[in-house]
Amino acid sequence: MKKKRILSGMRPTGKLHIGHYVGALENWVHLQDKYESYHLIADYHVLTTDLNTTNIYSDTIDMLIDWLAAGLDPVRSPMFRQSQIKEHTELYLIFSMLITANRLERNPTVKEQARALHIEQIIYGHLGYPVLQAADILLYKGNAVPVGEDQVPHIEITREIARRFNNQYGEVFPEPEALLTKFSRLPGLDGAAKMSKSLNNTILLSDEPEIVKSKLRKAVTDPQKIRRNDPGRPEICLIFSYHRKFNPSQVQQIETDCRSGALGCVDCKLNCSEKISSFLAPIIDKRKHYEANMKEVLDILSDGEARGKKAAKETMSEVHDKMKFG
Ligand code: TRP
Repeated sequence: MKKKRILSGMRPTGKLHIGHYVGALENWVHLQDKYESYHLIADYHVLTTDLNTTNIYSDTIDMLIDWLAAGLDPVRSPMFRQSQIKEHTELYLIFSMLITANRLERNPTVKEQARALHIEQIIYGHLGYPVLQAADILLYKGNAVPVGEDQVPHIEITREIARRFNNQYGEVFPEPEALLTKFSRLPGLDGAAKMSKSLNNTILLSDEPEIVKSKLRKAVTDPQKIRRNDPGRPEICLIFSYHRKFNPSQVQQIETDCRSGALGCVDCKLNCSEKISSFLAPIIDKRKHYEANMKEVLDILSDGEARGKKAAKETMSEVHDKMKFG
């Protein structure tokens, strides 16, 4: 039986952090076994919130290396940039005719993003963010899209556009499903609900042990646990959530000893840094391999782009046929 296809994507924001790993990448790596996977670097999407493209290329390469280091397999799963496959923009234009401005204005994720970034007048391209995303997914006839909660409205719009196209011109597109990432979202080092580059509260996949140690040393813990023997509340401690993920075999003991006051924060953090660093060690090794062999990285990208392009062209030729262009 033919495997179902996944299209997953991220905007290239440079080096990834362990929150990206837990929230998305880890899942993508596993999904490669079950699905035919296409991985998109959504570089045009960056423009919706940041017009400065000075670092776009280095951010792209940094992210790609992290994808590879974390276990995405370039042989099975092509990886490519949106900007290099012109069919994205072409399908985006066609799709922009199949949805009303009003529908896009109601999108809660775009509204939330605009609010968070203090955007008062939203640009046309930002409003169209989910239309470009629909083109990303449907160009490869993705059946499933692994995403977090916040992306569900975009997938809903993708389904509506697919339906609208199929009704108007004939069946070309599947109606993709969101595969919700069961995420234990990792809190940031400052105690914020999530890690994010802009909050500067992250542990990078590429952080060496010394860096991890010094970042954790400065991290906040339970403010009521001041002295070593004060009882702590693991449920509000971000270090404890990291133990849950990276130190499952000791997590119960840590909980008991934190509550009783037997375990102090300094030791607990040291232990946690070690566990995170042993998890990161193979990723860092692979990253070093790719950094020393940049040609291999660029070959992977151009191979991915050739394969992406092939699939994209096939779909566009069906689209042109159905629409009587050509
Ligand atoms: N919107 C996604 C994000 O912000 C990135 C993205 C762009 C994407 N195109 C996609 C995700 C296609 C999945 C499928 O994370």
